[in-house]
Amino acid sequence: MNILVINGPNLNMLGIREPEIYGKATYADLCAVIQAFAERIGVNVEIYQSNHEGALVDRIQAAYGKVDGIVINPAAYTHTSIALLDALKAVGIPAVEVHISDVSQREEFRQVSYVRLYCAKTICGHGFDGYLEAMDYLAEARI
Ligand code: DQA
Repeated sequence: MNILVINGPNLNMLGIREPEIYGKATYADLCAVIQAFAERIGVNVEIYQSNHEGALVDRIQAAYGKVDGIVINPAAYTHTSIALLDALKAVGIPAVEVHISDVSQREEFRQVSYVRLYCAKTICGHGFDGYLEAMDYLAEARI
């Protein structure tokens, strides 16, 4: 099974950005945790990060026919991007939305999620574990 993990803008700044919200662990730490978990559950994983909406759309499109499940943390684009929603719909690959922080307890503008309209599940506020839960869900469901 091939899983693609997609991270949106500023997630490359983990460990530096707002550690009181996102923690002190770095983006490299996140990638290592995801990679180790993929090996444990016996799936192939590719991890992709971009600060650019179009690049994220391109990566989702490129997954068509090659990837069985997508874990996506669109970061700030969660709350603005119809293009990411449309890209997920276009490829039709099962997807799970992940947020490190509990967006439901944050600002009003974070209460909207466009990708949620497509994703099979949303995991918020579980820190890095949320990515692993999402991978587990996709691997279990093999939907
Ligand atoms: C985030 C939450 C978003 O609202 C924010 O813009 C991010 C990170 C999270 O993982 O908690 O960049 O997606």
